[in-house]
Amino acid sequence: MRYRAVLSALSCVVPVLANSAWQQVLGEIWSEQQQVAPARAPNFVFIITDDQDLELDSLHYMPLVSRHLKAKGTFFRNHFVTTALCCPSRVSLWTGRQAHNTNVTDVSPPYGGYPKFVERGFNDDFLPVWLQTSGYNTFYTGKLFNFHTVDNYDSPYVNGFTGSDFLLDPFTYSYLNATFQRNREPPVSYKGHHTTEVITDKALGFLEDGLAEDQPFFLVIAPIAPHSNIDVGALDDHGAPTVMTEPIPLSRHENLFQDAKVPRTAHFNPDEPNGVSWVRNLPKQDDQTIEYNDHFYRQRLRALQGVDELVGAVVNRLEDSDQLDNTYIIYTSDNGYHIGQHRLPPGKACGFEEDIRVPFLIRGPGIAKGADQDAVTTHIDIAPTLLKLAGIPLRDDLDGTPMPLHPNSNETRHEHVAVEYWGRGYLEGLKGAIDNSPVVPNNTYKSVRLIGDGFDLYYSVWCNNEHELYDLTTDRYQLNNLYYNVDSSNRQIQGFNLRKIIDRLDSLLLVLKSCKGDTCINPWNTLHSDGAVSSFKDALHEMYDAFYQHQPSVSFSRCELGQILDAEGPQEPLVYRHGLSWEVWT
Ligand SMILES: *[C@@H]1O[C@H](CO)[C@@H](O)[C@H](O)[C@H]1NC(C)=O
Ligand SMILES: *[C@@H]1O[C@H](CO)[C@@H](O)[C@H](O)[C@H]1NC(C)=O
Ligand SMILES: *[C@@H]1O[C@H](CO)[C@@H](O)[C@H](O)[C@H]1NC(C)=O
Ligand SMILES: *[C@@H]1O[C@H](CO)[C@@H](O)[C@H](O)[C@H]1NC(C)=O
Repeated sequence: MRYRAVLSALSCVVPVLANSAWQQVLGEIWSEQQQVAPARAPNFVFIITDDQDLELDSLHYMPLVSRHLKAKGTFFRNHFVTTALCCPSRVSLWTGRQAHNTNVTDVSPPYGGYPKFVERGFNDDFLPVWLQTSGYNTFYTGKLFNFHTVDNYDSPYVNGFTGSDFLLDPFTYSYLNATFQRNREPPVSYKGHHTTEVITDKALGFLEDGLAEDQPFFLVIAPIAPHSNIDVGALDDHGAPTVMTEPIPLSRHENLFQDAKVPRTAHFNPDEPNGVSWVRNLPKQDDQTIEYNDHFYRQRLRALQGVDELVGAVVNRLEDSDQLDNTYIIYTSDNGYHIGQHRLPPGKACGFEEDIRVPFLIRGPGIAKGADQDAVTTHIDIAPTLLKLAGIPLRDDLDGTPMPLHPNSNETRHEHVAVEYWGRGYLEGLKGAIDNSPVVPNNTYKSVRLIGDGFDLYYSVWCNNEHELYDLTTDRYQLNNLYYNVDSSNRQIQGFNLRKIIDRLDSLLLVLKSCKGDTCINPWNTLHSDGAVSSFKDALHEMYDAFYQHQPSVSFSRCELGQILDAEGPQEPLVYRHGLSWEVWT
């Protein structure tokens, strides 16, 4: 029976599907295991949660994710998002582009949201469209983007999906009163049903549809847990939430984890404030606030139990099919989350580890089981990774590169993550507001996270020109901003003084903040066109000291809510050439 299916799949799919390429990829993987390559392109089940942290231990509370994905797959322990906010991060993920290239930088117009995604032409040019035109059946259920609403869902409809059932604003985050919109049908309210249960049903339905056909399938399941609950009427004129309360678990999970608390790490509600000024000015949290935040934390863990069960149900169904061994199952989140670290109320939007690190687990044909991968990877790398696994030719207009899925695979590795953010910060929970406002202005910054060759650094430049530098090898909780010690201390990192370190990081950031395509993947090539420098360590050579001292610095002339280039300082770095001379790169 499978044989006939294969024949018909080949006859109808071969012309569009780059079969030989995926057979080559899979062939390499499968021949290692002395198995026969499957005869159709692999399927993908992609589960993306909303606001799930890695750093606050949420994965530890998900036994089915552990059993089905962590034990049977590979955990990427250094996986980052490039913009720690739902909509920009999701648009970057599905288009394979940094937010400065999508220019979808916010959750709502004029700088973001679904209308901006459409306006920028991505509704015709993003991963589901590419997969679909290559012969995939594509399905999506749950939250796609923000500002995808009961009023604009059909103008135009989202492209690229064989079947879709989207959560729509303003009901997206209403755990018990969600509205979904299926294919070309009108929106339907699920008042009284728990959103995660509704999504589980819809996901299993689409999985059946995918399994029933001979074409490979791509299924995205995007539950909103553990995002805050937002009820209707709690959005301001910009579509921004005004009251974000703790998530609501399924009733069968509401009493779990009575003793769980936010991990009391050194940066949890510290005695000494730190960070940029708006963070440094936060008051120390009182006992009542801490108690509430612990409750908030437990509600997140409880809300994730529905997702854990969803993962279990999906894997069970795949196990009962003949496609389990031909399906990649991926689990991640759109951005991380902090609660109480650096005295912050619950939320995201910062560049701290809690916000930019997210879970990334992958299981599937040829993927090592129970393995940890240390390579630095980002959400921008996901689209190229999936294209490669699907055997679809890579495009050179993407800002990421396929992830090294195997311990010894020779994919391009990168040390850097280009982190960027425009606009407001959001303070969540009933005790979140500062001066009665749940929003922080001027949360615009650019930063680089760098891990490699003994370095473990975070460097940021804010729109008010404040800077941060953390050396995470000795300060993993980012409590000691070294930037302002540069002239007063003899401190060194890996034997290099701080000035040298900062000069290189700043130039790297200058390249990354406006990079495109290969420049984002190999930024040192822009600075050193002779190819002599391919890592941070290489760039630290003393022969380049003068060159880096003369680079224009990353800076802003004012704080904007979106990507307004004339507020964003120098755009072009100098290029090192011919030994001692350098010139402006054009
Ligand atoms: C529930 O959703 C419906 C629309 O689907 C809306 O009209 C109603 O106001 C919502 N109820 C509450 C309590 O939020
Ligand atoms: C390693 O790189 C070479 C050259 O790009 C390629 O031909 C080969 O297939 C790669 N091997 C793996 C395991 O990715
Ligand atoms: C925010 O930035 C704007 C523009 O740079 C500035 O005028 C304003 O004072 C800043 N507000 C705060 C609270 O820092
Ligand atoms: C990004 O979009 C905003 C809003 O439409 C626009 O003002 C800005 O010029 C755009 N930035 C770039 C770099 O295209």
